[in-house]
Amino acid sequence: MSNLTFTMIKPDAFEAGHSGAIIQMIQDAGFAIKAAKLTKLSQERAGQFYAVHKARPFYGELCDYMSSGPIIAMILEKENAVADFRTLIGATNPKEAAEGTIRAKFATSIEANAIHGSDSDENAQIEGSFFFSQIEVF
Ligand code: CMP
Repeated sequence: MSNLTFTMIKPDAFEAGHSGAIIQMIQDAGFAIKAAKLTKLSQERAGQFYAVHKARPFYGELCDYMSSGPIIAMILEKENAVADFRTLIGATNPKEAAEGTIRAKFATSIEANAIHGSDSDENAQIEGSFFFSQIEVF
């Protein structure tokens, strides 16, 4: 799974109409789309996805926000996918995101930060499987 990562275009970026520009940036950076789905998380499913953050003070608001509107979930392929994708999206807090990164361009706050990227090969596998079955991955 080291050539794969998982991403979501988050509700703020989808609502603002940035999905096309974001997908263009992802493809221009050399990532191939292996699976893609426009979907919406329920509050309960958002809670499951972010269970690792359950103890954090922002967990409730994060689940409210991530279930507030449609998202686009994708599995992406590229050599060194996890690390290269995190470079492409920039720091979690858009104020700290490097110029030219997806979050620097499109994120509005640390919560509404436009896009998710898996932080390890193991989590890419877990997160991809959360949204996609084997037959949905090309
Ligand atoms: P992401 O890394 O995709 O997944 C966890 C999310 O929690 C993160 O993006 C942010 O959207 C959110 N998050 C992280 N830290 C904070 C924080 N201090 N306050 C609010 N939201 C946060």
